[in-house]
Amino acid sequence: MTTTLLAEIRDEILASGPIGLDRYMGLCLGHPVHGYYRTRDPLGARGDFVTAPEISQMFGELIGIWIAATWAAMGAPNDLLLVELGPGRGTLMQDALRALARAAPTLRPALHLVETSPVLRAEQERRLGDASPVWHDSIATLPAAPMIVVANEFFDALPVRQFQRAERGWFERLVGLAPDGNALAFGLAAEPDTRITASGPNGVLMTLPGAALACVRALARRVVADRGAVLAIDYGHVRPGFGDSLQAVRGHAFVPPLTAPGEADLTTHVDFAALGRAATSEGAALHGPVDQRDFLLALGLRERAERLGRDASPAQRDAITAAATRLTDPSRRGMGSLFKAMAFSDSALTALPGLPPAKP
Ligand SMILES: C[S@@+](CC[C@H](N)C(=O)[O-])C[C@H]1O[C@@H](n2cnc3c(N)ncnc32)[C@H](O)[C@@H]1O
Repeated sequence: MTTTLLAEIRDEILASGPIGLDRYMGLCLGHPVHGYYRTRDPLGARGDFVTAPEISQMFGELIGIWIAATWAAMGAPNDLLLVELGPGRGTLMQDALRALARAAPTLRPALHLVETSPVLRAEQERRLGDASPVWHDSIATLPAAPMIVVANEFFDALPVRQFQRAERGWFERLVGLAPDGNALAFGLAAEPDTRITASGPNGVLMTLPGAALACVRALARRVVADRGAVLAIDYGHVRPGFGDSLQAVRGHAFVPPLTAPGEADLTTHVDFAALGRAATSEGAALHGPVDQRDFLLALGLRERAERLGRDASPAQRDAITAAATRLTDPSRRGMGSLFKAMAFSDSALTALPGLPPAKP
């Protein structure tokens, strides 16, 4: 399938040579006109994928309870910024604010949303307009103040670079043209990147999440300086490892990542170990990571499901149970263990709900 973006990427490769995976992901997801997130709302049954807040209101409500407890642990500052990175349709924050109004009635946070998609900004305006959010293209323009930041399925969408190990070192994986001169194909740089000193067996792929690491470092500096905490929930792994987790999803199915740029969601598994190291290198305290299942159960998912079920019809009760199961199921069918929750904060916050302090 030839998309306009495919033609543009082909021209760029013809003009300047193969491009890094970070450039390819950046164009596919964020191209100002043809980028995946610029052109559509990808969420929901009729979109390409479903996220936890879209599965059940309980997810956002429990995050609201986490925010209330974290705010109290910070000493209840009255100038709190509540920040969400990549808020999607605004569903998580809408559910969180409802729970927050009950759990912390005196809290009046200033709501800041970091979102690049105009389509999703319009959805967020519809659901969160009453809370007068301020939108940002990036975290760079967030004001300096105590803050609580929430990011669900945000870091997995940030561009990464990949390198393959061979006899002479680590060679960057590049996107170039296939022999037919039309299709895109993966290849390797001609020379190894001598700055990479990691060891690994020949043939393995290593992923470097440069954009996510830069974002975590900048947020860690903010919370260390101004107080606060950042909660990241994403699918990923807690131990560093090799392998290719790049995936493209369209219409709830996996598709090859190079065939229809800009038409499929592109993500990689989040390397929580690397993100954690980036946060602590800036002086932040680390909490977790833990499986999403343990995080949600510790915050009271079971009790919330029972409470909601009390006033529900039998069919609604079944739907609530099915949603709670999907969010916590540790098997490959569910999100319970594939997804992890991790937070980092200023060092005065020694305990955050649902997240044991990280082992040194
Ligand atoms: C997978 S969706 C998750 C949406 C929402 N958090 C949820 O759980 O339903 C990724 C979100 O991040 C936004 N996004 C992707 N790349 C971004 C970037 N570089 N800067 C800001 N937002 C971005 C998307 O527009 C979208 O809102």
